[in-house]
Amino acid sequence: MAHALDELIADGVAGRRVLVRSDLNVPLDGSTVTDDGRVRASLPVLKKLADAGARVIVMAHLGRPKGQVDPKYSIAPAARKLAELADFPVAVASDVVGEDARAKAEALADGEVLVIENVRFDPRETSKDDAERGAFADELAALTGENGAYVDDAFGAVHRKHASVFDIAHRLPAYLGDLVKRELDVLTKVVSAPERPFVVVMGGSKVSDKLAVIENLIGKADSLLIGGGMVFTFLAAQGHSVGGSLLEQDQIGTVKDYLEKASAAGTEIVLPVDIVYAAEFAADAAHEVRPVDAIEDGEIGSTGLGLDIGPESAKLFAERIRGAKTVFWNGPAGVFEMEAFAGGTRAVAEAVVASDAMSVIGGGDSASAVRNLGFSDDQFGHISTGGGASLEFIEGKELPGVVALGA
Ligand code: 3PG
Repeated sequence: MAHALDELIADGVAGRRVLVRSDLNVPLDGSTVTDDGRVRASLPVLKKLADAGARVIVMAHLGRPKGQVDPKYSIAPAARKLAELADFPVAVASDVVGEDARAKAEALADGEVLVIENVRFDPRETSKDDAERGAFADELAALTGENGAYVDDAFGAVHRKHASVFDIAHRLPAYLGDLVKRELDVLTKVVSAPERPFVVVMGGSKVSDKLAVIENLIGKADSLLIGGGMVFTFLAAQGHSVGGSLLEQDQIGTVKDYLEKASAAGTEIVLPVDIVYAAEFAADAAHEVRPVDAIEDGEIGSTGLGLDIGPESAKLFAERIRGAKTVFWNGPAGVFEMEAFAGGTRAVAEAVVASDAMSVIGGGDSASAVRNLGFSDDQFGHISTGGGASLEFIEGKELPGVVALGA
């Protein structure tokens, strides 16, 4: 049984250094944070600890710098955003467990927060070697000095067996952060006792990333609506031509198998009936809508790229979502970053907002999509901060960060 953050607060944290793993992995445009959802979601736990007088040390990753110090992946922009939104002091260290981090951790006063540099700048963070990760976790734990504690509040990273997520929990008294707890509660309800009809909308580019979750949802979901780049592998499996669209040829057999299994298990797989095809991957590309089964030679669709589901598909998806009691959505329906190909994703978001269903938006990309399209978080039941983590939870996989806490 995991210990909750409130137990730590009740034990008294004033004057103690508490190491918190947050997920500050935000999208950036240069050094500008383009979606601060994860920073906002991390704030309440940090505030709770700061208000209780803890000296808080935040560790987080940004991107995948592959164990190298690379300024492009500095945590600084995310930390600056945190400082801007917080009503407590936030300092930033220029290294992970080096001189600056150690000195600044040492100098923390009660109620102050320090963010150390991107933990993935150290190759030991993600090492497959237990001893290497362990040595790094020892150095992270040492930042807390005497009587330290560890709080995992990084739901987005709980599926990673990394030093700052997994090994650290064996080195300090470990507690479950409120964000991780809320995410686990919501997703548990969606997976184990969804109110029906339970409709799942899957998008995103690679079908191979989502195969396990699709397989696990067969027999559990009432309808599985498929959009995004991965839809072309499904359309090809049904014998449709998909022009030059993204296609994972080696997955066609598996997808055919899933289509058969789903029909036997009573899960309706809903595929688009029309697609927006573009002459090239560009915001201003010439484009046209074609039914999936009626593309003539010479049309854009015969050689072009499918970049969004078409309007008839959007209507079909919206109709299923309208009738749902529970909706889980992971992955945009099209290239929503380009206005010409944002229609499908917008239609899905509008349908989710209009429905009475309990809705869960899973994933970094889907969350960014709805925010970038102008929707606000409170229009949805729950916007998960975890992309891969929420999918792996739904797949039924063990999550190392959760296991380490005994949650
Ligand atoms: C995410 O973006 O889903 C999390 O922050 C985890 O990032 P990762 O996939 O690079 O481990």
